[in-house]
Amino acid sequence: MALASPEAAGVPRHVAIVMDGNGRWARKRFMPRIFGHKYGMETVVRVIDHCQKRGVEYLTVYAFSSENWKRPEDEVSGLMNLVLVGISKYLAKLASRGVRIHVAGDRSKVSERVRQAWHEAEEHTRHNTGLHVTVAFNYGGRWDIVQACQRALADGVAPEALSEEALSRYMALSYAPDPDLFIRTGGEVRISNFLLWQLAYAELYFTDCLWPDFDEHELDQAFADYARRDRRFGGVKTGAASGPSA
Ligand code: IPE
Ligand code: IPE
Ligand code: MG
Repeated sequence: MALASPEAAGVPRHVAIVMDGNGRWARKRFMPRIFGHKYGMETVVRVIDHCQKRGVEYLTVYAFSSENWKRPEDEVSGLMNLVLVGISKYLAKLASRGVRIHVAGDRSKVSERVRQAWHEAEEHTRHNTGLHVTVAFNYGGRWDIVQACQRALADGVAPEALSEEALSRYMALSYAPDPDLFIRTGGEVRISNFLLWQLAYAELYFTDCLWPDFDEHELDQAFADYARRDRRFGGVKTGAASGPSA
């Protein structure tokens, strides 16, 4: 399904998205916030399809932050319930398309039912070789760094052996290259404790589009913007890229 050479066509290997704006989308329609989250879930499935079509290899979506527990109880329980609904509605379809699901975040704080559902999604798609979809759930970038340090220490890694590469192996997304493109919908221009370690050299893209309205066209616009960026990683321009400063 993937294009012959997505990278050559300027398509990022790894896309990380802060899916923001569900609440405002619902409010505009005089509906409860959870209505926006339900639509937001449909958007995730569409975005997964489109990423597969474009040849993206890794998609990481921020579904629930470690700070989202501050929300009203009914919204939090509604979001937890959406995990169960989403998995029963879409797992078979995604699995049949070769999607491999991963969950990143602190599972100790979520209910047994939700933990079980995530486990099922991961197990069911474990041998798939298509798009890696990581759902960041009860995820925080600071939590990730701390848990990586804790696990490295528990493994007996010596202080002098704790290099960037060594610590990367303990980060929640150790199986994935760092994100190439970070997208945030909903108009806010911040990272909100998403992949702090992994976003070091990601290209940042912000759009006012509210997440439930984000579609294939919006995603292609983000990819087109990304394709024009000149990624130097601290080096100097090689002349191969055709960035805006050319
Ligand atoms: C993002 O949408 C989804 C989650 C955080 C779960 P919001 O719920 O933050 O929507 P806004 O920002 O209030 O519009
Ligand atoms: C970030 O959105 C978290 C998710 C999209 C899951 P928030 O709406 O929670 O972030 P803030 O509060 O605007 O920073
Ligand atoms: Mg928000």
